[in-house]
Amino acid sequence: MSVAKKQYKRVTTKSLVDMKANGQKISMLTAYDFTMAKIVDGAGIDVILVGDSASNVMAGHETTLPITLDQMIYHASSVVRGIERSLVVVDLPFGSYQSDPKEALRSAIRIMKESGGHAVKLEGGKEIKESIKRILNAGIPVMGHLGLTPQSIYKFGTYTVRAKEEEEADKLLEDALLLEKIGCFAIVLEKVPAKLAQKVAESISIPVIGIGAGGGVDGQVLVTHDMLGMTHEFNPRFLRRYLDMFEEMTSAFKKYNADVKSKDFPNESEQY
Ligand code: KIV
Repeated sequence: MSVAKKQYKRVTTKSLVDMKANGQKISMLTAYDFTMAKIVDGAGIDVILVGDSASNVMAGHETTLPITLDQMIYHASSVVRGIERSLVVVDLPFGSYQSDPKEALRSAIRIMKESGGHAVKLEGGKEIKESIKRILNAGIPVMGHLGLTPQSIYKFGTYTVRAKEEEEADKLLEDALLLEKIGCFAIVLEKVPAKLAQKVAESISIPVIGIGAGGGVDGQVLVTHDMLGMTHEFNPRFLRRYLDMFEEMTSAFKKYNADVKSKDFPNESEQY
C-alpha cells in the first residue's frame, strides 16, 4: 500500500534557471535546524541555504572560518528533515575544498551522502575552477559565491563593499562568466555595487542571487536570524528587518521569569 503524501512541486536547480528565464524572482533564506527549516519551507521560500554563517549566528564565532565539515553536515541533515519543497544548498566550509580538487570532491560527497542536501556552495572564481569542475563531474550541483566572500575575510581585512574599483569589478564579471561556463546553476553575489550586480545578472543565463547587491539581480538572500531581528548588533544598510525578535523574545523571557518567581506559572490548568 502506498503512503498518501502531500504533493509539492519541489524546487530544483532547473526550476531556478527557468524562473530567471521567465523573469520570476527567487527567494532564499538561511536555516540551520529542523524547526526553522520547516517554517521557512512552509512559507514558500524557494531555496534554503545552510550557510557557514552558522559559525556566527549559531556558534557565536567572529568569522565563518571555524565551522567544520562535520558541523555543517549536522546542520544540513537537520534542515533536510524539515523541508518538503525548498531546494537545500549547503556551504562547503573553509578548509574543506581549498587545498585540492580531490579534497573538494570528497567534502561535497560527504555533504550530499550524509546530509541529504541537494547542492553545495563554494566561495571563489577562477582560483577554485578545478575543484568546482570535479564536483560537477560527479553530478553534484554547485552554486558559486562571488563579491564579498567571508571565508577570505583575513585577506580583505574588512567586510565593506567589494569590487568598487574597475580591476576587481572586471575580475568579478570574468569569474561569473567562468562559473556559468563550467556549469554552476546559480551564483550568490555578496555586497557589491548594484550597477555591477545588475550587469553580471544581465551577462549570464544562470540566476544571480544577491545579498547587498541591489534589486537588479534575479533573487535575494538574507540570513534568517538577521531579517528576524535576532541579531541586534548587525546593522548593514542592505538588511531589512521583518520582525524585532530580539525585543519580542527578551520580553517573553522576562515575563516567564517573573511568572515563575511570582508562582503565577504554572496555574491550575497547567498541571496534572
Ligand atoms: O553563509 C551564509 O549565510 C551565506 C549568505 C550570506 C549568502 O553565504
